[in-house]
Amino acid sequence: MSSSYGKQFKVTLFGESHGVGIGCVLDGFPAGFRPDFDALKAFMARRAPGSTPGSTARREADTPEIISGIFDGHTTGSPITALIRNADHHSSDYADLAAVPRPGHADFTLAVKTGGANDVRGGGHSSGRLTAGLCFAGGLAMQYLESRGIHVASRIASIGGRDVEDETDAAGLDATARETIENARSEGDSVGGVVECTVTGFPAGYGDPMFDGVENRFAAILFGIPAVKGVEFGSGFAGTALRGSQNNDPFYFDDEGKVRTRTNNHGGALGGITSGMPIVFRVAIKPTPSIAKPQQSVNLRTGEPCELVVKGRHDACIVPRARPVVEAAAAIASLDLLLAPK
Ligand SMILES: Cc1cc2nc3c(=O)[nH]c(=O)nc-3n(C[C@H](O)[C@H](O)[C@H](O)COP(=O)(O)O)c2cc1C
Repeated sequence: MSSSYGKQFKVTLFGESHGVGIGCVLDGFPAGFRPDFDALKAFMARRAPGSTPGSTARREADTPEIISGIFDGHTTGSPITALIRNADHHSSDYADLAAVPRPGHADFTLAVKTGGANDVRGGGHSSGRLTAGLCFAGGLAMQYLESRGIHVASRIASIGGRDVEDETDAAGLDATARETIENARSEGDSVGGVVECTVTGFPAGYGDPMFDGVENRFAAILFGIPAVKGVEFGSGFAGTALRGSQNNDPFYFDDEGKVRTRTNNHGGALGGITSGMPIVFRVAIKPTPSIAKPQQSVNLRTGEPCELVVKGRHDACIVPRARPVVEAAAAIASLDLLLAPK
């Protein structure tokens, strides 16, 4: 099993939800960069539990201990290791899951793959908690990208199938979205949503045709985020309803003589290679699998069907917390792409 991503900038995630801690090892981060640690902490806080409506009651400070790779306030070019210790976990909530897998979670598939050797506590290595390490890596990458004029931003496009209006709160939600989440929560249920992310300022000419293209690389890390079930670039699936004449993006020279496109249905990549237009993609995040409502499952020990009531603390909607994770993934993919030989 591998939990590593990237070539020039390689990110490895480690840990389990209820073990000693979680974190990341980053290989290839440029030397001599001075991170803004307060900004990094603020970025990671957007993902932390308890930060958004409908979020799990688990409280974690998510403070990274930097074990290696940063000296005297700057990166050294050697591997950067960050450890985030686990504090607030209730492993007894998960005692039954070894025998009775949660529908929609990775309990069943991991048990089959590992012959039952997986850490079932809190989803183990498949827990959403692992994304704290991803946010450390992505937050750092984002700061470096900004120093090169490349910016990553996102918005919540929809919650529970309803579009989110432009006027949003700090979590990226509007009143209707908050109500949708609260209704699901009060019924012991959950909802999903769509996050739209944009990388602006990325120069043209990066990425490779066929199997190592911009979309391939972004999709590989985005599908590594637990609960991500779909990714589309530019006009995506909606583009299939357009004519070529509508979906093609006309070229023109801007004031600086650079080739640009009037529209961006291609989402910043043509033939797997960046066009210089913003890289735009949308990510489908499914409803949180762990819900309070009773569900049908099976007992793998007794071979009997059974009803499962999931204990523990879970978000009724993980989309607001997944949003910075999507930004982090985009920043990691962008940095890896930027550092690759052209
Ligand atoms: C930030 C974040 C938090 C998550 N929190 C939970 C949670 O509290 N309960 C839960 O059942 N799933 C949670 N998930 C989703 C599961 O980890 C995920 O659905 C599961 O590992 C199965 O993987 P898959 O949905 O990608 O197939 C979270 C995901 C993210 C990104």
